[in-house]
Amino acid sequence: MRLVHGRLTLLVQSVLLAHAEVGALEKQSFERLSHGLACNLHSKHWQWYHTAYKDAAEAAAAGGPAHGKAAARCALAEALLERTSNLSDILNCNVGVVAGYYLLARLVLPVAVESFGTVGADEGEAGLAYRLLQLALVFIFTLRNANRIPEAPGVAWGVSERFIIPTLMRMRKGQVRKAQKWLQHAVPIAPEFRDRSLQIAVVSICAYPANHPLALPSVTPPNRDAYTSRHGYHLRLHLEPPILGAHGLGLQHAKLATVLAYLQSGKFDWVAWFDCDSIIMNMNRTLDSIIYQYAQQVPEEISGSVAEPPLPVCGAHNVRPDLSGQWLDSWVPPDLRQDALVSIYQTFEGRVVASSPQFGEAPGVVGEDESVELEFDGSALRGRIILDAEDTPHTVPVRLEWDNGAIWSRLGTPRSLEGAPCREPCVEPGPDCAAELDPKMNLLITEEGWGLSSANWLIRRSAWSMEFLHAALTAAHVQMRLFGDQDAIILHLMNEDALRAVCSGDDVAFTSDPLSRHASVIPQFELNAYDALNALTMECDTFVEGDLLITFPQCKDAEGCNDVFNLAAAYASDLDKSLGPRAGAWWSRAEGPPRWSRYSATSAPAIRIFGPRPLVQELFFRERLLEQHGAG
Ligand SMILES: *[C@@H]1O[C@H](CO)[C@@H](O)[C@H](O)[C@H]1NC(C)=O
Ligand SMILES: *[C@@H]1O[C@H](CO)[C@@H](O)[C@H](O)[C@H]1NC(C)=O
Repeated sequence: MRLVHGRLTLLVQSVLLAHAEVGALEKQSFERLSHGLACNLHSKHWQWYHTAYKDAAEAAAAGGPAHGKAAARCALAEALLERTSNLSDILNCNVGVVAGYYLLARLVLPVAVESFGTVGADEGEAGLAYRLLQLALVFIFTLRNANRIPEAPGVAWGVSERFIIPTLMRMRKGQVRKAQKWLQHAVPIAPEFRDRSLQIAVVSICAYPANHPLALPSVTPPNRDAYTSRHGYHLRLHLEPPILGAHGLGLQHAKLATVLAYLQSGKFDWVAWFDCDSIIMNMNRTLDSIIYQYAQQVPEEISGSVAEPPLPVCGAHNVRPDLSGQWLDSWVPPDLRQDALVSIYQTFEGRVVASSPQFGEAPGVVGEDESVELEFDGSALRGRIILDAEDTPHTVPVRLEWDNGAIWSRLGTPRSLEGAPCREPCVEPGPDCAAELDPKMNLLITEEGWGLSSANWLIRRSAWSMEFLHAALTAAHVQMRLFGDQDAIILHLMNEDALRAVCSGDDVAFTSDPLSRHASVIPQFELNAYDALNALTMECDTFVEGDLLITFPQCKDAEGCNDVFNLAAAYASDLDKSLGPRAGAWWSRAEGPPRWSRYSATSAPAIRIFGPRPLVQELFFRERLLEQHGAG
């Protein structure tokens, strides 16, 4: 906490400093102000924006009336919406735009943003601030300054990438937690699920010049071919830059144009875009299963309540002992115990609620170390979980021994044993499957620390999707040439919704994710699992056997990467490997030691693909040390 406090003071100081500077400069020449802010104040639009920014910053600093703050906040959001409607103009005041998003994030959720995401963002409740910071980051990229805001204008506006990037990274963890909760309540879909009525296309561009040293143009096409022919998907793989109505497009932007063209063709219900450097690793995993899992209609807004956790999915792998079931309390006289049973519900991530007539409800949590803690009227009671000694591999809890001397013994068979109630996942649409597609869900996409990823995603044929791709393409190709397709996608999925939510002024809007309801951010591992090295350095999901694919961010040189690509392709085409039933299902996915028979812990490419994380960490740090020594 002290650290946070120190940084906070620094932040406040820099904002005050910025204002002092601006104030002093206002008396001096206009040129110098314009120059100091790196903002073209000769344009009345930017002058107006700057004024809105100053007013909002002053409202934030002063402890004035709430309505004054709300008005200033909304005026800045509106100014930003107007300013971002002409992307070509942003370069005339780029740092100011970044500062605007950052200030709005602070204004809607001051504690979460000023604590760098350490307070009030753990359960994904910083949705709006998180998206505003993601938008700020998009415009840090357009500065083309190695993800840094130039020092002088940064100070003048009171913003730094150091306030934004670490905060985003931390807030994302809360967003992930919230999504996991959602997933538990969704109808589980088996990894082999097929809906034969869906026409699905897989689209990739592997356009490399002839004799390019990278192995991808020879590795990826057969990999895609094997996968699509196995499931009857349509493969549209381009070995040359496509000219589908998109003349003169850079390869970057050709992605959006190509997918758009395939949606417009009307032949496919869903199109999957996969970057050429993503390699399909689990040939059995279907795209239908991902579509049905994440584009399904979920009844109501799912509350974060742990009172009614869903039954586990059959075959779910639990890291923690499962306490769900009924327990007899030793403190209750024997003849009354049956009437005073304690019931425990436990969720996937180890939260529990114990309830009984004698104490009502007590929430708590189960640790991975066989500990349990319950909260009774604000005070915590800790206990130990005693596992069944007869059971191999000792996973069944039979007794709970509490620090206050109470002992609870299990009544009956735990649900994790055979015959216990669990939810069977759907394997195909039909009367046995309660999952129905949400007609408004059009885009399934993943995100990592830097925001939504355009590497691999799924999009449904619909008017919304075509309009969206067209708008994103125009943004990147016409209005803001510095935009990658990723930036354009982010802008068009959240800018307007986020800025409007700022003006709505209600607490629900401030904590919810303003992302367009046509799109869903799905777990990164489902469509975008990173190789073990990148997963470690970028703090995100690493490839685990069973995952659909693996992707290699920044693997660009043949010397270091070809062996890795080739090994991934060899793994993919090894049909004798056994992944076990339902491999790749979210409910049984866990990082662990690699299981492939051809894995070798002495092979660099194998470690890069399969990890395990601790080994990668060791090697990576050793390598870094060597580099430093070499350099020194
Ligand atoms: C957008 O900004 C550019 C660059 O400042 C400017 O030339 C253009 O006229 C603006 N477009 C509109 C519609 O205002
Ligand atoms: C893929 O599915 C087939 C048929 O269900 C099964 O025999 C095979 O073992 C699976 N492959 C892997 C790698 O799990």
